[in-house]
Amino acid sequence: MTTINRKKLKELSMREEHRFVAEHPRSAELYARAKNSLLGGVPMNWMKKWAGAFPIFVAHAKGAHFTDVDGREYVDLCLGDTGAMTGHSPEVVAEAIAKRVRGGITLMLPTEDSLWVGEELKRRFGLPFWQFALTATDANRFAIRIAREITQRSKVLVYNYCYHGTVDESFATVNEGVVGPRRGNIGPPVSPAETTRVIEFNDLNALEDALKHHDVAVVLAEPAMTNVGIILPDAGYWQAARELTRRYGALLIADETHTICAGPGGCTREWKLEPDFVVFGKPIGSGIPGSTYGVSDEVAQRITARIHLEDCDVGGIGGTLAGNALSLAAMRVTLEKVLTAAAFEKMIPLAKRFNEGVAGAIRERALPWNVIQLGARAEYHFTKKPPRNGGESAAAADFELERFLHLHALNRGVLLTPFHNMALMSPATTEADVDLHTEIFARAVTELFG
Ligand SMILES: Cc1ncc(COP(=O)(O)O)c(C=O)c1O
Repeated sequence: MTTINRKKLKELSMREEHRFVAEHPRSAELYARAKNSLLGGVPMNWMKKWAGAFPIFVAHAKGAHFTDVDGREYVDLCLGDTGAMTGHSPEVVAEAIAKRVRGGITLMLPTEDSLWVGEELKRRFGLPFWQFALTATDANRFAIRIAREITQRSKVLVYNYCYHGTVDESFATVNEGVVGPRRGNIGPPVSPAETTRVIEFNDLNALEDALKHHDVAVVLAEPAMTNVGIILPDAGYWQAARELTRRYGALLIADETHTICAGPGGCTREWKLEPDFVVFGKPIGSGIPGSTYGVSDEVAQRITARIHLEDCDVGGIGGTLAGNALSLAAMRVTLEKVLTAAAFEKMIPLAKRFNEGVAGAIRERALPWNVIQLGARAEYHFTKKPPRNGGESAAAADFELERFLHLHALNRGVLLTPFHNMALMSPATTEADVDLHTEIFARAVTELFG
C-alpha cells in the first residue's frame, strides 16, 4: 500500500506556505491590520483555519469565480460551503433583491412571495406546511423544539460526527457506547449525554437499541452525511430506519441543507424519503440569510393542538427578522430561476466529471483513497473504501495531508471546501473549471508520491 512520506509532505507544505505568503502581500497586510480590531484577526473564528498563514481577503465574486485583493483569480469549488451553490450573485437574484430592498426589507408581516415559496417547497419536497428562519441552525433548533413539545420526549438522536450547525444537542460524539461533548465543543450548556443519543450511521441495530428507550423525540439526520466527508446510506437504510422511528414513536428531521445537491427536492424526493420535517437553509436565497422547515400534516395538526396563539411569540421559536420580505424575495427568485431542475441537469454531470478526474489520478498511482459523488457534490477520502459511518471517516482524517492539498490547489487558483476535501458545482461552473482541479490534483499527487 502507498504510504505517505511525512518528511516529503512537510517539505512540500513549507514550499507551498512560502509561495502563499509571497503571492498574497495585500491579504497579509489586511490580516495584520484586522488583528487590531477583530478577535483573532477574522470576522468569524473558523476563517483562521483555512490552509495558509492567513485567510485570503476577497475583492469580488461572480458565478463560480472570485478575485482576491491581490488581484489573483480563483475557481470556487467551495461556494461558501454551499451558501453560494447558486453561483455568486446571479444577475436575476441581484435584480430581484435590489427591487425588494427599495420596497421594504422587514416588516413582521407577510409578503406574497412567502406564498409562492411555500407552494414551491410543497411541490418539491412533498411536505404540506412551511415556516421560515434565518439560518439552517435555527430551522433545526425550531424543528427540535416542536418535536420535543409534541412528543413530550427529551432526547435528540444524531449520528456520530454529524454537523447541523450550532445546535447544542448535536455537538456530541459517541466512543465505545459513551456519549460526550464533541472535541472542541465550546461551553456546552449541559453535558450532551443529557440531551442526546448518538449512534453510528448505517447501523440499524444501534438505531433500534437507542429508540428502545422511548425517550427520543426526534432523529436529526442528513439523508447522506456530508460534513465528515460524504457518507452514503446503505441500500434500504432509510426505509428501515423510518419504519423503526415510526414503531418507537420518534420523529425524523431530514436536514437537506447540503443534500439539496442531490436534486431540486433534495434526497427526500430523489430517494422517496418520508420525513416528518425537512430543513433547508444556506443556498435557498442565493446567500441572502434565510432558511425553511417544512412539516407533515400530522406534525402540523399536533402543533396546532399544543401551541396557543397567546404564547406563540415567546415560545422559543422566533427571530424578529425571520420570514422577512428580503429573505423571501431572495428565496423566490432562487427557486424560480436559479436552482431549477434544468440547473441540476447541468451541475450533476460536472460533479461526475470531477469524480472521474480524481478517480483517474487515484487509480494511476494506486492510492488507497476514494472519491464519492452525491448529486452536484463530490469529495475524496483518504481510505481505500468509502467510509460507512462518521467514526470510520473521522479516524481516517489527515489534517497535514489535507492542508497541503488545499494550499497546493489554492496557490494554483482553485478553492476547495475547507476542513474536508469537498467540491460543489454551481449552475455557473464550467467543465474547464473542473478540469483545472483535475490537473492540479494529479500534479499534487505526483509531487507527493512521484
Ligand atoms: C447539514 C447542515 N445543516 C445545518 C447547517 C447550519 O447552517 P448555518 O450555519 O447556515 O446555520 C450546516 C452548516 O454547515 C450543515 O452542514
